[in-house]
Amino acid sequence: MTNTRPRVLATWHFPDDGLQLLTDTCDLTVWAGDHPMSGEELQRGIAVMHGLFCSPATDRIDAALLQRAAHLRVVSNFGVGYDNVDVPAATSRGIWVCNTPGVLTDAVADQTFALLLAVARRVSEAERLVHDGQWRHWHPTLLVGKSVGGASLGVVGMGGIGSAVARRAAGFGMRIRYTSRERKSAVEAATGAQQVSLDTLLHESDYVSLHTALTPATRHLIGDEEFRRMRPSAVLINTARGGVVDQAALTRALLEGRIAGAGLDVTDPEPISMDDPLLGLANCVIVPHIGSATVEARARMSVLACENLLAVLQGRRPRYAVNEGELRAV
Ligand code: DGY
Repeated sequence: MTNTRPRVLATWHFPDDGLQLLTDTCDLTVWAGDHPMSGEELQRGIAVMHGLFCSPATDRIDAALLQRAAHLRVVSNFGVGYDNVDVPAATSRGIWVCNTPGVLTDAVADQTFALLLAVARRVSEAERLVHDGQWRHWHPTLLVGKSVGGASLGVVGMGGIGSAVARRAAGFGMRIRYTSRERKSAVEAATGAQQVSLDTLLHESDYVSLHTALTPATRHLIGDEEFRRMRPSAVLINTARGGVVDQAALTRALLEGRIAGAGLDVTDPEPISMDDPLLGLANCVIVPHIGSATVEARARMSVLACENLLAVLQGRRPRYAVNEGELRAV
């Protein structure tokens, strides 16, 4: 490290809890635009930077961009996902890629349940009916929904967030199945969850909730074939990444009644196009990628992302780097 202060670009005004950790020791530039930085703006902004503090939801950090970043030593993501970064390209340039696991787990698990309950109990439809002046009188079959207690939940991907969802589901008296590369004995002991194949999970679940990272292997993991295996009464919840679901196949499945509903915190693309047919379906609840959006989680994410970033710039090991092993091998 030279005597000059390292230069850091933040692509948003992230919560000050984190940003103020940077101001003492770094020259911090905070993007002041009211829109996400475009590829060109990022390219111009990153050219002289040593550190980049960015969002997996808006900032695409690809090989071409990294090539323009001659001084860059760390990409610190405000989030647990890192599908926005070309990690091999970063690694080959010796650039650390950091993320913020753990601190947003409960927020995303809560949001998963918010969506599950909203679809099951038709909360959005009901609210619209009231606002539209259609609440004329009580009726025994008005907006009847699906039970949650006693129903079966399939958790696709039993990492930190999947496990937190399973713990909540156990509290609701749900029967839990899950898929995972490894067996998760502690979660099984705490929740009664059973590890099964994806096929079995799709066949046996009243609710299917996605908690897997977006990788080439999981892109469109849930498509026409998978919807055919699900129950006609089943509900799909996605708080992971839009690309894990083939959205055209989801639309077909909902239109043809192959599944009963969906709750989406994420779509592909984001934001969803206003002429997307999913927006016209009453049984599809869509919210704008707010899984981790609690004051507490966002503050902790900001602090952790800045700690990761500072650690690299000060020559220490960051707490969470997704390419640490690979960097050591380079
Ligand atoms: C994450 O943590 O990856 C969230 O989706 C924020 O983008």
